[in-house]
Amino acid sequence: MVALKLLDSCFHGNDKLQTYYLRNAIILQQVKFNSKSEVETKEIGRNLGKRLKAGDVVCLYGEFGAGKTTMVKGIASAIGINERDITSASFTIISEYKGVTPFYHIDLYRVEPDGVHALGLHEYLGKDGISVIEWAEKAGNEIPDGSIKIHLTYTGENSREIVIEGILLDEDT
Ligand SMILES: Nc1ncnc2c1ncn2[C@@H]1O[C@H](COP(=O)(O)OP(=O)(O)O)[C@@H](O)[C@H]1O
Ligand SMILES: [Mg+2]
Repeated sequence: MVALKLLDSCFHGNDKLQTYYLRNAIILQQVKFNSKSEVETKEIGRNLGKRLKAGDVVCLYGEFGAGKTTMVKGIASAIGINERDITSASFTIISEYKGVTPFYHIDLYRVEPDGVHALGLHEYLGKDGISVIEWAEKAGNEIPDGSIKIHLTYTGENSREIVIEGILLDEDT
């Protein structure tokens, strides 16, 4: 389970739950972290980001202030994007960045559920870049199969529960 170690390396002592299961011969993994700070959430994002490749889609779920954008900053930093360029998109729904791989930060907060289709998300998701989607629940069935899903929950002023599922484990990682 080398991949787990990759995610885990910075977080000795963190509670985590690991569930491995087989689906269509692809091993998916679920990992639970208890982040104790914004910095730690970014580190978790960075460790995940290092493992992403073009075409990957990461869905983020959680209430306002749960840490979704913080996680996106960590992911983006692993792709060579300055985390300060990642903003809590108030009016921009889709922001495009030129990282090592194209990076699409999609924030559906202000989009009505029946307005999602008009965004043409299929033109971004699973193509040439890495996509991350905040408020992914609004995207409904536009989310491709095989997406990585991250649920963030507020558990205290500086603590968040972070559950990541759907990481592809290949033999070489
Ligand atoms: N462990 C933590 N992980 C992430 N954010 C945290 C944590 N502890 C405190 N925070 C704070 O919570 C807020 C999260 O905001 P943000 O990432 O924009 O959330 P969202 O995008 O889910 O609305 C930030 O102000 C951040 O500093
Ligand atoms: Mg946000």
